[in-house]
Amino acid sequence: MPDVLVLNGPNLNRLGTREPDVYGSTTYADLVALCEESGAELGLRVEVRQTNDEAELVGWLHEAADARTPVVLNPAAFTHYSYALRDACAMLTAPLVEVHISNPAAREEFRHTSVVAAVATGTIAGFGMDSYRLALRAIASRVGS
Ligand code: DQA
Repeated sequence: MPDVLVLNGPNLNRLGTREPDVYGSTTYADLVALCEESGAELGLRVEVRQTNDEAELVGWLHEAADARTPVVLNPAAFTHYSYALRDACAMLTAPLVEVHISNPAAREEFRHTSVVAAVATGTIAGFGMDSYRLALRAIASRVGS
């Protein structure tokens, strides 16, 4: 069964209480369960992680690069300015899907730039938690699971 890492950046551990008008009422624990269930249906072994620490997220991307593991990444606010994250993403050889719960293009100007998008296989944004389901589906079809 192919492995997939679902990596989440800062403040996503606060899902459920964080700006529910923007991000909905699904909690981070619900998101983990949803990704694991979706993965199982698609024949993927999914591991979901979250950190508020840029260095830790970069380290996880190095791990994915070394193991050639496909990644679903919600870089959260790092999306918009972390060149360190972007450079780590550029090292990946397996598919990388950038996901967002909200649609950053429809929000504040600073969210319109993603420094990660150009090195991702593709981006899925604006579908709430379904963004993750769709990203896992895209990975499953690429790895032939
Ligand atoms: C987000 C969008 C980002 O702009 C924001 O900083 C987040 C969440 C999303 O999933 O919609 O933390 O990545």
